[in-house]
This record gives sequence, structure tokens and C-alpha cells, in this order.
Amino acid sequence: MPAIVSIHSFRGGTGKSTITASTAVLTARRGYRVAVVDTDIQSPGIHVLFGLSDALDQGGTTLNDFLWGRATILDAAHEVPVAGAGSLHVVPGSIKTVEIAKVLKEGYDVGRLNEGFRDLISGLNLDVLFIDTHPGLNEETLLSIAISDLLFLVLRPDQQDYQGTGVTVEVARRLGVPDLQLVLNKVPASFDLEQVRSSVETAYGSPAAAVLLQSEAMMQLSSRDVFVQAHPDDALSRELGRLADLVAALIDSGGNGDALL
Ligand SMILES: Nc1ncnc2c1ncn2[C@@H]1O[C@H](COP(=O)(O)OP(=O)(O)OP(=O)(O)O)[C@@H](O)[C@H]1O
Ligand SMILES: [Mg+2]
Repeated sequence: MPAIVSIHSFRGGTGKSTITASTAVLTARRGYRVAVVDTDIQSPGIHVLFGLSDALDQGGTTLNDFLWGRATILDAAHEVPVAGAGSLHVVPGSIKTVEIAKVLKEGYDVGRLNEGFRDLISGLNLDVLFIDTHPGLNEETLLSIAISDLLFLVLRPDQQDYQGTGVTVEVARRLGVPDLQLVLNKVPASFDLEQVRSSVETAYGSPAAAVLLQSEAMMQLSSRDVFVQAHPDDALSRELGRLADLVAALIDSGGNGDALL
């Protein structure tokens, strides 16, 4: 069965989309069939990292078109080139004001989103589906968490993040997520990394899959490209590789995408 990996954080701006994009590219480069869905339809963003802004400006099909019944999810899956035998498709959210306003005003049918995940997995014969989520807890983030084989919970070393992460960890446990991994991001280089790692692991009773430093190169890149593509030899890319290692191990052990409702 294909694997489902969600990337979530309680607070915004922790680095979810950045981490999702790099992990997805690294996984596809290993020869797997990969898709990424941007479920942050209130404030979509991952399409920027994959260079799909122009395609969307020119009316490219989005997740919103699928949710409102105007297109299939496969119509909204944009293939992005990756080196090697794998493949990578991205399902972006719409950046049109009218579309975002519609979602905010009317909401949407989360059951349809679930159907979309299923159709995407079967239509593209995926090995893994990455779900880049909206921060905080709402109906669609709960769905994404509930159907995940692996949840990466991203947090910065910040007291507000720490508190919110505690809430999310508890919810994920109640929803029976099989594997929950913390990802520490934007950690200042002056911090004692092993101490930060062990303190969050102890606080939440979950392993930290990666400890990612606050990076000048990442800030300069400013979402113009996927970090591991732009800086393959950077130490941060190696640390991001740990996340792809976990995803590859999950795929090879046979994910249970059958947790889909
Ligand atoms: N390790 C890092 N060092 C420096 N900057 C980073 C790092 N990780 C992410 N960033 C930057 O932080 C900003 C927010 O990242 P990103 O958009 O991935 O966060 P997000 O969690 O997806 O945000 P949102 O909650 O709005 O969806 C981006 O400008 C990104 O380049
Ligand atoms: Mg994001």
C-alpha cells in the first residue's frame, strides 16, 4: 500500500512547506512515485517552491477546481521534473482571491478531499502522498493527521511552538497515528543541538527525526527553489535527507494508505 505522510505544525511559518518540498524531491530522486498536495487552501504556498506560479497565473488547474467539482484531482496534478527514475506531482491550491474567499466563506467538503487523495494515489500509482497542511487544528488538518502513516510535526525552539505542539501530539495520539516524528526547525547555531533534541524528545515522548538549523542560505533562497535542489551539498540538505530516509523505509515496509476513509 502507498504511504501517507503529513507535515503539520500548530503554529504558522515553522517551515512545513519548505520541509515538505525538499523531502518530496529527495524521495522522488530515490526512484519513488511521489505526489504533494497543498491542503492549505486558505493560504497556499508550496507551488511557489516548485516554480508553478506562472502556471497558476495562466489558469492552471488547482485543488480548488477539484473540490468544487470542476475538474478531477488528476487534472490538478502538475508534474515537476526530478532527476532519476522517480516522479513528482504537485497539487497546488488556488491563489485567486475569489477562490480563497469562497473557501473561507463556505468551507468545503472534507470527504471530497479524502476521495481526492484516494484517486490521486490510484491514478498516479503513488508510492507516497505528502500532505502539506494549514497550521493549527481544523477539520482538514484532523483528516490529514488521522489518515497518516507518518506525521512530521514541525516546531521551532520557541515557547509558543512548544505549547501548541503538545496539543497536536495529544490529538495525533488519540487519532492513532502510527508514527509521529518531531522536526525541529530554525534552530540557532549557538544552541546546544543535542540538548534541544533531547529536551523535546523527553517533553513529547516522540523521536526528533531532524534538527534543522536556522540557515542564511535558506533565507537568501527565499522560496525561489527547493532547498535540496539549490544547495545539494549543504549540511541542511544532509539533515533533510534523514526525513527522506524515514519515508523510504516506510514505503519499503509497505505503508497502509488503506487508513483512508
Ligand atoms: N531552516 C530555515 N532557516 C531559515 N529560514 C527558513 C528555514 N526553514 C524555513 N525557512 C523560511 O521560513 C519561511 C516560512 O517557511 P514555510 O513557508 O515553509 O513555512 P510554513 O510552515 O509552510 O508556513 P505556513 O504555516 O504559512 O504554511 C520561508 O521564508 C522559508 O524560506
Ligand atoms: Mg506552508
